[in-house]
Amino acid sequence: MTVSTELAQGILEFPPGFMWGTATASYQIEGAAREDGRGPSIWDTFARTPGKVHLGHTGEVACDHYHRYTADVATMAELGMGAYRFSVAWPRIQPDGSGPANSRGLDFYDRLVDELRGHGITPILTLYHWDLPQTLEDHGGWTSRDTAERFAEYAAIVHRRLGDRVDMWTTLNEPWCSAFLGYAAGLHAPGRTEPGAAFAAAHHLLLGHGLATRELRRAGAREVGITLNLAPVRGSDLTAVAVPDGILNRIFLDPVLRGEYPTDVIRRAERFTDWSFVRDGDLTLIGAPIDMLGVNYYHPFQVEPRPGQPANPVFPGSEGIGFIDKPGPTTAMGWPIEADGLTELLVGLKRDYPPVPLVITENGAAFDDVLAGGRVADNRRIEFLDAHFRAAHAAIAAGVDLRGYLVWSFMDNFEWAYGYDKRFGLVYVDYATQERTPKDSAHWYREVIRRNGL
Ligand code: FCB
Repeated sequence: MTVSTELAQGILEFPPGFMWGTATASYQIEGAAREDGRGPSIWDTFARTPGKVHLGHTGEVACDHYHRYTADVATMAELGMGAYRFSVAWPRIQPDGSGPANSRGLDFYDRLVDELRGHGITPILTLYHWDLPQTLEDHGGWTSRDTAERFAEYAAIVHRRLGDRVDMWTTLNEPWCSAFLGYAAGLHAPGRTEPGAAFAAAHHLLLGHGLATRELRRAGAREVGITLNLAPVRGSDLTAVAVPDGILNRIFLDPVLRGEYPTDVIRRAERFTDWSFVRDGDLTLIGAPIDMLGVNYYHPFQVEPRPGQPANPVFPGSEGIGFIDKPGPTTAMGWPIEADGLTELLVGLKRDYPPVPLVITENGAAFDDVLAGGRVADNRRIEFLDAHFRAAHAAIAAGVDLRGYLVWSFMDNFEWAYGYDKRFGLVYVDYATQERTPKDSAHWYREVIRRNGL
């Protein structure tokens, strides 16, 4: 059936084999922060630092998924999920970030992967979703080249244990957040506010991706990719657009997909760094082919020149650029709801970069959900997802090679600096009892998956 007849009939079908699922991350759900030999991560330290996280929340207990994973996986299966993207906590595997593997840490993911596969759910493993072992941060964290080398060793350890059962590997989740929220704006762990350090961190994260990809390939990993948080930056002033677009999108896309840094980004960052951390051969490693690019999309940005505007600390060098809050609906995060930004982003990737299969590795929304009478009527989340699935379908119809869609998130969880205040889950979590309740959106999503469409 052609796309136009589909639309005429009011149905929207995704390509056969399209992968539907959800995503989470270790620190946001696992809890069990001191169990089975897990070492401290930068998020343990950051969350304990007064004033950094809403109401002093931490991931100490979180959703207690470490102990409840069997029930959680059973719920995923009941909801018809085909795939599940989770992350491995590096400090469970190497408590200090180097040296021999802690087998009890590996055992947990071993059991989780078997549980998923036993339910016919494809595991998608992310090696780094922000919980850097604290010891590595004490030695410079991502500003140090050594951290990239350690990351590749860790990747090899995890693959040795799980490579026979996990086909899809993602090196990093959203290196922009690690580098610029973590080292420039100080809003995320490790909470540093040094723009120059953020550029070094961005490079070493990318190098870690390149080195880990090489290790995974050597070990025979079938599919290797990276997940980036990307967003269209809109505006009529080309310079105003280029600054945030450069630091959010192109500083990661260009090296990974073309093996080079964008020259305008290099030039503009010269007041913060001399780029001496980039060594011969790095970009070849970083630009080695990947099998899949993970795209996390939440909302676009709109900018305009605004003389006298101080820099937005998450985008070093953005003095004189105004970020416009367009009137319109927003999520509980205050993020504008603009599904067409997803089509624009995906079509733009196809237009501007060499071909690479894409997967939406995160998209979703926080709303002020209320559990009443055993039910969460989250119609706004259903509307949000419906609009974004349609936007993804429009991109496929325009020729984009999109392979799957993973909703953020499987369940409510620790939303970083916002603590447990923001609920992104398809499944509601009562943190006092750890009781889970699938929201209306979860039941709706099950039907989408069953039909492979809307
Ligand atoms: C992304 C993160 C994820 C979650 C969502 C809302 O930036 O990767 O962990 O916090 O935002």
